[in-house]
Amino acid sequence: MAHSRVRCHRSRCRFRACTVQWRQADRDVYGGCCRENTESVNIVTSQFDDSPEMSLGTTIYLDHAATTPTDPAVIEAMLPFWHETWGNPSSLYAAGRQARAALDRARATLAEILHCHPREITLTSGGSESDNLALRGVVAEARRATPQPHLITSAVEHHAVLHTAMALEKEGIDVTYMPVDAYGMVSPNDLAAAIRPETCLVSIMDANNEVGTINPIAELAAVARARHIPFHTDAVQAAGALPLDVDALGVDLLSLSAHKFNGPKGIGLLYTRRGTRWTPQITGGGQETNRRAGTENVAYAVGMAVALARAEVERPRAVAHCSVLRNRLIERVRAEIPDVRLNGHPTRRLANNANLGFAGVEAESLLILLDAEGIAASAGSACASGSIEPSHVLTAMGVPEPYALGTLRFSFGAENTADEVESVADLLPRLVVRLRSLATLMV
Ligand SMILES: Cc1ncc(COP(=O)(O)O)c(C=O)c1O
Repeated sequence: MAHSRVRCHRSRCRFRACTVQWRQADRDVYGGCCRENTESVNIVTSQFDDSPEMSLGTTIYLDHAATTPTDPAVIEAMLPFWHETWGNPSSLYAAGRQARAALDRARATLAEILHCHPREITLTSGGSESDNLALRGVVAEARRATPQPHLITSAVEHHAVLHTAMALEKEGIDVTYMPVDAYGMVSPNDLAAAIRPETCLVSIMDANNEVGTINPIAELAAVARARHIPFHTDAVQAAGALPLDVDALGVDLLSLSAHKFNGPKGIGLLYTRRGTRWTPQITGGGQETNRRAGTENVAYAVGMAVALARAEVERPRAVAHCSVLRNRLIERVRAEIPDVRLNGHPTRRLANNANLGFAGVEAESLLILLDAEGIAASAGSACASGSIEPSHVLTAMGVPEPYALGTLRFSFGAENTADEVESVADLLPRLVVRLRSLATLMV
């Protein structure tokens, strides 16, 4: 679409004094007049179009673990729920019933993919809320029976779990943070040894968001099940990449977030197996069968269902496509750049994840140079209190600091191409050499 700006020059325009400028493409569609031939919504959206950041344009986007582009088919499926079927699904009249029917269909689709009953799905605002609800909900229930329940999680969880566990610890809950091996994996034997009589929940992530390592969830869940302890998995990074059959996994709670599988941001779900005891954390109305108050976002629920259905159908193709791109980048980087390490498991890793540590390079500097070249990736370190700290995941895996501080995550998606990977692999050796020589000069 052309992005040049043109003034409205229509001779009969009632708003001749206006300064609204049109994208050429919009003016062509609406006949050239700034307002007469169209609706105010176009004027409003054009304000947002002014931001150069809105369009990724020619960016090579390799940060799909952070978020994914919304699938146009998902947007299309959601639109009627703003324009036409915008009733409150709790209302009893026709508009409400239509919205309810759409919500029920969306929930049924999600349940079919997860192999569960629709009532076992609670819609949330995303992965963070689902994780919070799982941990806080089960712990709150356990507290009714045990003064100091015990929670088991792993040291490499997303902060949505880790910081929630830490907050619960401050509230008097006992927490064990399971160690991981050098690949970031939790051992079922270690889990068995960590369980205590007061353990009320085990929460171990399906696939790690930084290094892509896939945990043996079915085995871990079986250990917990044998002791009648509910097992939660954060499967936010697994959707569209790994099977989500909750029975095959043997999990009792599972978190998902739609924006990780080409759905809208701001919606997710928590699966809770029937019989699992947990206390709702958002109180108010009786929505979500009294489990999570608040008027449901029907459009987003529909969007999430369409996105997950499409991700499931596309999963084999997406996995094959992404693993080719991932392997090619890893292969070229290892062949052409010395002192590089692949973080995470060599084979039991997400098909779209290449997590690479470049010794002697500051990850943020490399990110900035890549960004200047139109490449979006993510760092495995963060600036904390003025100094650069390696990520908690790499630290728990024992990745040596020179590599941990120089770690970048490249995560691929269906729209990435082989040419894009070649461009990134062509560029990286030069950037790494430049940063390493700068680092040497500064010593
Ligand atoms: C593993 C994992 N859990 C939870 C979340 C939080 O999800 P949301 O952004 O939907 O709150 C993320 C997001 O990056 C994630 O990767």
